[in-house]
Amino acid sequence: MHVHALADIAAEANSAALSNFAREHKSDAGYLDVAANTHGAEKGFLVYGALGRIGRARPRVVEVGPGGGAAVSYLATQLADGSITDSHPVSDVHLTLIEAPGVASQALTRAIDEFNRVGECELRHGFAQDIATLLAEPVDVISASALLHEMYSYGGGYPGLHAMMRTLPTVLNPGGFFAYRDVYAVDGPSLHERVIQYYNSRAWLTFLRLFTPQYLAEGTHSYHRADDELVARQNSRIVPVAELDRATCAVITAPIGLFREIQRHYITFRDHVWRSGMLGFTPVLDGDLAADWIDFRSGHKRVHYQLGDEVPWLTTSQRKMLAAVSEPCADHHTIDSDIFDSVTDVALLAFLDAAESGDPTCRQVWNAWLLREGRETYAYMTADQLLTAFAVHSAEADTDTVLIPVQAGDITRVDRHYYNRFLTKRLANPLPDAKQLVLFQNVPRGDVAALRRAFDTVADRCGKPSLARMYTAINRGDNWTP
Ligand SMILES: C[S@@+](CC[C@H](N)C(=O)[O-])C[C@H]1O[C@@H](n2cnc3c(N)ncnc32)[C@H](O)[C@@H]1O
Repeated sequence: MHVHALADIAAEANSAALSNFAREHKSDAGYLDVAANTHGAEKGFLVYGALGRIGRARPRVVEVGPGGGAAVSYLATQLADGSITDSHPVSDVHLTLIEAPGVASQALTRAIDEFNRVGECELRHGFAQDIATLLAEPVDVISASALLHEMYSYGGGYPGLHAMMRTLPTVLNPGGFFAYRDVYAVDGPSLHERVIQYYNSRAWLTFLRLFTPQYLAEGTHSYHRADDELVARQNSRIVPVAELDRATCAVITAPIGLFREIQRHYITFRDHVWRSGMLGFTPVLDGDLAADWIDFRSGHKRVHYQLGDEVPWLTTSQRKMLAAVSEPCADHHTIDSDIFDSVTDVALLAFLDAAESGDPTCRQVWNAWLLREGRETYAYMTADQLLTAFAVHSAEADTDTVLIPVQAGDITRVDRHYYNRFLTKRLANPLPDAKQLVLFQNVPRGDVAALRRAFDTVADRCGKPSLARMYTAINRGDNWTP
């Protein structure tokens, strides 16, 4: 029964006219204005730091894929507060935003207005892939937050990314910066390393059988090699992932990157269902109330939530229990995040069951998520692969520069403590959930001191084979001829 239901769900999502880039769903006001528009400081601080290092009056900055403008707004606030450092005051910043055609957001319009009070900001519509034709002259800083996973997923996979890496040095001034921020992948040199994970949570097993087959069949991903096969066992027998029995512990062997992908998608799906209001309660996921920490480092917080209409996924007795473990707070309720995660698991399981059995409303919510995010690959490169790819491909641009971070602080990981706490409680071998941030500098090949510092910086993150590839590319030890 379930296998047919799954095929139907996949067909429905397909027939919902999956565009190359799920524009309608990406530009949905609820998504860009709210869901994707938090963490402004995290999205903007690399650019802000780069401006201080550029030390140039009237710097030109570009943000590609600004979404709801969280970074734009952050930069406007920082610039309004005054100079970056006493020695390098920054003013008259000219900011160009490049957003995909047809994508609009009210929050971005507000952020642009804010920025125009302290500098100059213009919005251009076009694709990141065409950045060289969208900019009349090279700029000092280019920033892209949560853009490259979309380019990978919708813009040509690795060849598309590599082309972007070759283009960036041509649109940056020598010494300029590219600020990268995206989902952190996994520790280690490769996404393809085979590891074993155990799943015994019913909600996770149900998600695995719903999500994994369609992602592997339809997502843009790199798990096509013989050694990438996902092998699931229950009671020591091999079981197709679409037929996992969710009452039996599953032992699954697969590439570590694929497990990271499943984890990441579970988190975004949970978020999506919360926001849909379909669980019968909706947590506050943005703003100050979303960060009411009991202990920030351990990811323990108080969740603020609204109780909605009665829904089948939360029975009357579950609603009463929820009320009993919550506290009233102004016009809503608060609850301990560990308890809230448990309540969510129970309701989500009932929701997923209904989606599998063909409930039209649940399917609609599932399909909307699938269309907007479910086929994306979030973790397309480890830090080692990312740093190597940038150095190797940017070195092929005809600019005599290479994109590489030059200071230890230019490579950062920002952990998502709340998600990690949840994952640790549900999974036997959780992989860290985090964002990877890297500030690449467009270093001239002749700047020996900067290259020396750069190699010191990347040596901590990259294996010897990767360092060898970078060395060869930078020194044109390949067959490249001028
Ligand atoms: C996940 S959102 C991130 C938004 C914002 N940068 C942030 O971090 O909050 C991705 C953004 O990139 C834009 N985008 C995706 N692919 C693009 C492309 N090929 N060219 C330009 N923009 C693109 C989307 O419209 C969206 O604004």
